[in-house]
Amino acid sequence: MLSYRHAFHAGNFADVLKHSVLTLVLEYMTRKDKGFTYIDSHSGAGMYQLADEYAQKTGEYKDGIAKIINADDLPEALAFYHQLILSLNPDEVSEKNAFENELSLYPGSPGIAKEILRRQDSAHLFELHSTDNVLLTEFCQRWRKAFVKQSDGYQGVLSLLPPPSRRGVVLIDPPYELKEDYQKAVKTIIKAYEKFATGTYILWYPVVKRSLVDEMKNTFINSQVKNLLQVELCLQADTDEYGMTGTGLFIVKPPWQLKGQLENILPYLQKKLGNAETHYCIDQLIEE
Ligand SMILES: C[S@@+](CC[C@H](N)C(=O)[O-])C[C@H]1O[C@@H](n2cnc3c(N)ncnc32)[C@H](O)[C@@H]1O
Repeated sequence: MLSYRHAFHAGNFADVLKHSVLTLVLEYMTRKDKGFTYIDSHSGAGMYQLADEYAQKTGEYKDGIAKIINADDLPEALAFYHQLILSLNPDEVSEKNAFENELSLYPGSPGIAKEILRRQDSAHLFELHSTDNVLLTEFCQRWRKAFVKQSDGYQGVLSLLPPPSRRGVVLIDPPYELKEDYQKAVKTIIKAYEKFATGTYILWYPVVKRSLVDEMKNTFINSQVKNLLQVELCLQADTDEYGMTGTGLFIVKPPWQLKGQLENILPYLQKKLGNAETHYCIDQLIEE
């Protein structure tokens, strides 16, 4: 029984980090004319209304995207992500005075991909939750090269590799409702890498219990995977109490300039979204 709904969390600080990286990776892929395949193992609904009861109930976006949407001191590496969010909210932007840190729409990972992918690129989007699958299918209706499936995203990723174009980006973004997701996600990337070593893989994780993140790291380090970058933004110090104190990404085969871009972005997010306890790390865990 799946209970996680991303609508409660859309636009929070974890989405800001994940989606700004996704935006940079996808934009980099479009620098070559040749098409590529984007695979999203855990897609969610595609697009979120921030005025709806879910987002309003938690208000998480107010401590995330809302804190930077009106900023005029953005680092260059965040400009494209920021512009993408603004372009989805044209009314708020044109009526600048009425735009009181509020946004109507926030894109999920398919929403970001839809803005960046071109005619020659395709998207394979997996979503198991029946309600979110319907929303995602509706969202993708006019997107000719998007293929939505209500099936397991881990198996879905493996079934599609290597992509015919031999160019691909895979996002693995599980809800971690089940503790087994931590290892399953890493092992799926290790298997995927055996089939397609030149792809870029982005794995999102929450920092809830530090030992689970350390185990993920060790599984990667003991694998054949090369060129692994880890980035983490923690709002608070680690704790054994319940709750997400930070967020991170493992990125296999990142675009060459991503590390430098993150060195630009993370101090800014620390300042804008954080507090005195907030810290970050950007580590090349495994060399090329
Ligand atoms: C964190 S959300 C995804 C958010 C989305 N990637 C984004 O960035 O906007 C995780 C989603 O995975 C779905 N899900 C859970 N287990 C799944 C599985 N095994 N395969 C595919 N989807 C799954 C959940 O229903 C949920 O919508």
